[in-house]
Amino acid sequence: MLDVKTGRYVENPAILITDGTIMEIGTQGALTAPANAEVIDLPGHTLLPGFIDMHTHLTGKATLHGYRRLGVSSGDKAVTAIVNGEKTLAAGFTTVRNLGSGGYEITSVRDAINRGEIDGPRIFAATVSLGGTGGHCSDNNLLPPEAEAVGEGVADGPWALRAKVRQNIKYGADLIKICSTGGVLSKGTIPGVQQMTEEEIRAVVEEAHMRGLKVASHSHGTEGIKAAIRGGVDTIEHSSFLDDEAIRLAKRHGTALSMDIYNTEYILGEGEKAGMLEESLAKERVVGGRQRESFTRAVEAGVTVVFGSDSAVYPHGDNPKQFSRMVRFGMTELQAIRAATITAAEVLGQGEWLGQITPGYAADIVAVTGDPLEDITALEGVDFVMRDGKVYKDAR
Ligand code: ARG
Repeated sequence: MLDVKTGRYVENPAILITDGTIMEIGTQGALTAPANAEVIDLPGHTLLPGFIDMHTHLTGKATLHGYRRLGVSSGDKAVTAIVNGEKTLAAGFTTVRNLGSGGYEITSVRDAINRGEIDGPRIFAATVSLGGTGGHCSDNNLLPPEAEAVGEGVADGPWALRAKVRQNIKYGADLIKICSTGGVLSKGTIPGVQQMTEEEIRAVVEEAHMRGLKVASHSHGTEGIKAAIRGGVDTIEHSSFLDDEAIRLAKRHGTALSMDIYNTEYILGEGEKAGMLEESLAKERVVGGRQRESFTRAVEAGVTVVFGSDSAVYPHGDNPKQFSRMVRFGMTELQAIRAATITAAEVLGQGEWLGQITPGYAADIVAVTGDPLEDITALEGVDFVMRDGKVYKDAR
């Protein structure tokens, strides 16, 4: 069992779980199970805390990009999210932060999972992504003016944005997602260009923090990253064009970076078939390389970097593939594992009960064969998944 806090293995562990919570950890033989306990033996396996993906879009599909998205209904999205939740859980991700869509479908899926009606990961939901008119993730830029299409998350100016924050909370958001720069996959936006003012970002952050919610900001470009950090957001998503000042600011403000560095391979390899616009592929050819350089620099500088994959850009369930890229671009195996467990839980604000196999914590446990500290790709084949003490996968 990997103790992600110390970074050391515990040999022959025995874990006592009651009502979904880890009660006691000992070693086999030394820890006696109560008479009526169910015993699950996992010989030859390495146990790790269930993984946390800090950036998913369960309502989206990797085969539906560009104009194909226009045909997707709210009902389609809910069904898609159920299917993708199952795939994500089976890949070892017991918790996700779902970073937005154009509607509120995800709250129904989250609540049904919480009630135990369907299988899936624990979801922290951003619901509707917020930003300005024409913005990446807030608006729909695919249609001509006469269609008068306006995204649900569009708001211009501090008070309009505050109202949107309140609306999201009213309909069940656990956190707020904004887009402070353009993006790769939206039409007519430029990843390097800022598209919310610092005043707007700060208003969102003040409103969200006042209500106890955290804020995640999609930010590729340098100025948009800095404005988001200065504005007080909790995490920067993508974080592609970092400079020294952005890195210093992230450290000073304690802002975590979530960097989806697997995506570039999928977009450049499969994007065209999946319906991505030609302009998106062109943007990716610039962003991908810069993002990976930024990842290396951020890790070297000691900035907090968490595991965030932006699933739905690539197929749900392939999330663990990002671990090996995180190691290739500068993390140790242990750092990459922590980025998806203990560190992610802390950044989520749930570090007191998630992200570690330790007494008092949720019984979220995955098992793999092999030694992930030697070969991180061991995490690509999760054999066993438990969430809240319930076994969802046992493929030994
Ligand atoms: N959703 C993001 C966007 O459209 C995906 C970026 C993917 N590219 C990357 N290199 N991480 O901007």
